[in-house]
Amino acid sequence: MRQRKLVDLDERMANLAEYIDKDGTVHKGKWREVFESRDSDSDSDSDSNGELCLELGCGKGKFIYEMARDNPDRNLIGIEGQESVIVRAAEKLKREPLPNVYLVSTYVRDIRDYFEEGELDGIFLNFSDPWPKARHAKRRLTYHENLKGYMEVLRPGGFIEFKTDNDGLFEFTLEEIEELGYPVDEISRDLHADGLDSARFTTEYEEKFIKKGAKIKYVRIIKE
Ligand SMILES: C[S@@+](CC[C@H](N)C(=O)[O-])C[C@H]1O[C@@H](n2cnc3c(N)ncnc32)[C@H](O)[C@@H]1O
Repeated sequence: MRQRKLVDLDERMANLAEYIDKDGTVHKGKWREVFESRDSDSDSDSDSNGELCLELGCGKGKFIYEMARDNPDRNLIGIEGQESVIVRAAEKLKREPLPNVYLVSTYVRDIRDYFEEGELDGIFLNFSDPWPKARHAKRRLTYHENLKGYMEVLRPGGFIEFKTDNDGLFEFTLEEIEELGYPVDEISRDLHADGLDSARFTTEYEEKFIKKGAKIKYVRIIKE
C-alpha cells in the first residue's frame, strides 16, 4: 500500500545517506564484496562468506534487522520501493548498526538487474502487496515471470520463502509455483500454530495481522 510522503522525508533521507543505497544494480555480481569490505572495517562477528539473502519489499525492516542480529553469519539485503517506509529501517540501522544488513531504496522490476545468476542463497517475500484485481496480476511479486527471475538469481539449493495473510494471493502463488513445476519444500496455512522455524522472525505486517487473529500462510520452495 502506498504510504503518504512524510513532510520531512527529504531531510531524513539526506541524513541517512550512508545507510541507504539508491542503486543496487551497481553491485550485481559483487554483493559478497560489499559485505567483505564491511567485515574488514568492523570488529563484529559478521561473516562475509556466510549466506547472502534478500528480502524484497522489506518495509520498515523489522524482519531483516532481527534476523541479521541473531545470525551474524547471514548477510541480508533489504530492498524497498517506498522511501517513506525504508527510512524507518535506516533509522533503526543508524541507532544500532549491523554490518550484515544492507538497504537499497528502489522499486524492482526485474530482479536480474540486481543479482547475477546463482548469486543469492535465499529470498524472503513477506506480506507482498496482493494486487487483488486480475488485471494487476503481473504486479504481484509471486507472478510466474517474477518467480522465474528469483530462481535464476538463486544458487542451486537456494530457497524462496513467502509469507502472507492473504488467502487469494497465497492460492495464486501456489498455482504459479505448480505451473512452473517447482517442488514445495514446506507449506503451512497457519504458520504460528504449526510452530515452524519461519515463525521465529516476524515482520511489521505479520505482527499486525497476528493481533487481528489472522492465520499466516507460508510456503518455501527450493531451487533444484
Ligand atoms: C505490504 S508491505 C509489507 C512490508 C514488510 N515486508 C512487512 O511484512 O511488514 C509490501 C512492501 O513491499 C514493497 N514492494 C512491493 N513491490 C516492490 C518492488 N517491486 N520493489 C521494491 N519494493 C516493493 C512495498 O513498497 C511495500 O512497502
